[in-house]
Amino acid sequence: MRTVHRAVELRAIIQQWRAAGEAIAFVPTMGDLHAGHLALIAEARRHAARVVISIFVNPLQFNDAADFAAYPRSLERDVAVLAASGGDLLFAPDAREIYPHGMETGTRIEVPVLAQELCGAFRPGHFTGVATVVAILFNLVRPDIAIFGEKDYQQLLIVRRMSEDLRLDVDVRGMPTVREADGLAMSSRNRYLSAEERGRAPVIYRTLEILRARLLASEENYAALEAWGMAALFAAGLRPEYVAVRRAQDLQAPNPADRQLRLLVAAWLGSARLIDNLAVDC
Ligand code: PAF
Repeated sequence: MRTVHRAVELRAIIQQWRAAGEAIAFVPTMGDLHAGHLALIAEARRHAARVVISIFVNPLQFNDAADFAAYPRSLERDVAVLAASGGDLLFAPDAREIYPHGMETGTRIEVPVLAQELCGAFRPGHFTGVATVVAILFNLVRPDIAIFGEKDYQQLLIVRRMSEDLRLDVDVRGMPTVREADGLAMSSRNRYLSAEERGRAPVIYRTLEILRARLLASEENYAALEAWGMAALFAAGLRPEYVAVRRAQDLQAPNPADRQLRLLVAAWLGSARLIDNLAVDC
């Protein structure tokens, strides 16, 4: 699998593929690849003759400079992992390539309302950074389809909305979260957990499962369910930011007539901020 670092190289290859009539699938990542990313690439492979992966730790989506500095970077290891992944091309730009006129003064993409909820309320500017970099990457790669993990469910909805609003003509697909055997959602941030914290982390998934069972048993007091979930996570020594029952399609507060719900959690465990979510089809 070939690696390019410059947009001009990427464009030249994409143009050749397009000229040959080949469809392109795209998997954007921030690297530190794990089985969850490989599942996205395998799904991309099913949809297109060509699969492009990007690795770019996007400074614009970090609202905390220390978090950006500490984010795991392992390009050499990632390239080795990708060799057997089924991908065709890795695009691994640096910040000047993505933000040639500087990040601070460059154009930004806002997705109002959806981006202010949940994680957006706790990480100001985060989703502006995500929407902006994904729009830039979509413009460079010009994919027919792009695959995102449902672990970042709010991100998935925001990217889909951004792509629709800007008429980018990219089919934005979500893939189910890949989990460890004990239910913990795979994430690059799991490596911040100590062994003892790692042992406690699956309480997030267990809490979501209990809440899902209660919703399926027709409990409709969403505020009480959210409060119970917060208490369960505090009791396990986590510091939850939110436990939320929302409408799946737009993450707004549901009412009992809504059948497609999403349960979402963000919680700190030690120095790791973990997120997870579950679909609930009542
Ligand atoms: O989910 C991620 O890894 C990032 O937010 C993304 C979509 C690659 C944008 O930087």
